[in-house]
Amino acid sequence: MRRAKISIIGAGNVGATTAHWCAAAELGDIVLLDIPATEGMPAGKALDLFQASPIVGFDAKLTGTTDWADTAGSDVVVVTAGIARKPGMSRDDLLATNAKIVGDVALKIRETSPQAVVIVVSNPLDAMVQRTFQVTGFPAARVIGQAGVLDTARYRAFLAMELGVSVEDISAMLLGGHGDTMVPIPSCTSVGGIPVTQLVSAERLEQIVDRARNGGAEIVALLKTGSAYYAPAAATTQMVEAVVKDKKRLVPCAAYCDKEYGVGGYFVGVPVVLGSGGVEKVIELDLLPTERAGLDKSIAAVKELVAAMNRLTGTA
Ligand code: NAI
Ligand code: 2OP
Repeated sequence: MRRAKISIIGAGNVGATTAHWCAAAELGDIVLLDIPATEGMPAGKALDLFQASPIVGFDAKLTGTTDWADTAGSDVVVVTAGIARKPGMSRDDLLATNAKIVGDVALKIRETSPQAVVIVVSNPLDAMVQRTFQVTGFPAARVIGQAGVLDTARYRAFLAMELGVSVEDISAMLLGGHGDTMVPIPSCTSVGGIPVTQLVSAERLEQIVDRARNGGAEIVALLKTGSAYYAPAAATTQMVEAVVKDKKRLVPCAAYCDKEYGVGGYFVGVPVVLGSGGVEKVIELDLLPTERAGLDKSIAAVKELVAAMNRLTGTA
């Protein structure tokens, strides 16, 4: 059986760490690409990671490059290219710079890997995934944004800390945009099968959700030189795995929604079934009025962000 080919665009913190997790899990052969100005950096990281394989015990071909030809025919392309937040910056502050970078990257993906499933990570996520869809012209199912897996993981981690239980026993679902406007769904959150509302007060739950909402900013403030990458890369790797192994994982992702949730043609964080075709199904939940109001606010924020991006890129 041919191994999957996974190209990761941007060999910085998130890109290189995603390569690490994907290689260690033997998800396929990996190409790590960055811009020519980085010279030997992607090649150095790929070689270093390959030299870990006899110790850790994984088989994966690792290529570091600045040449898009090396990515040709990829099954999955992960986009982490762009700039990351520094303290005081919001994800939206990245809009102008990253819209240009992600647009250029999307054009290259269209030329080199026309059948790929594309997983976008660059921020501001909800706009960058829309930009990738606009420029590649790929079917919507093959363009997906990574946000919900990370946001939900943060929420699950904070709940496990609060309750003193294993993270493995926390199951949760969040909808909406990445971070600031994400919408928790308490009816879909359980701890060892017990509804979370039986274990945590509504007030305390809201504080935990708020910490998850600001989870990215918390790490930026601590690191001071960049943003989170271990958990983002782990989240991205889970999505890559779902695609290359056709796992049909039910996870929250930024997926194209038209009639779904009445969104009208934007990428929003919703539960999806993820498999070899990318987003194979969007799951529509019955939402409580407060949850619906939260989702509507989030959708409005995504639309505003995309409108700002379209003005910057001259997209009608
Ligand atoms: P980083 O600065 O460590 O790496 C970014 C890399 O992209 C750099 O090596 C840079 O040279 C490269 N790059 C820039 N233009 C490129 C181009 N045209 N082609 C190929 N590579 C290019 O940043 P980091 O920490 O890896 O973050 C990457 C992006 O991911 C940022 O926009 C960040 O905000 C976002 N992010 C999103 C998360 C999410 O949950 N959606 C979570 C964490 C980060
Ligand atoms: C995060 O949530 C910065 O979006 C990135 O960590």
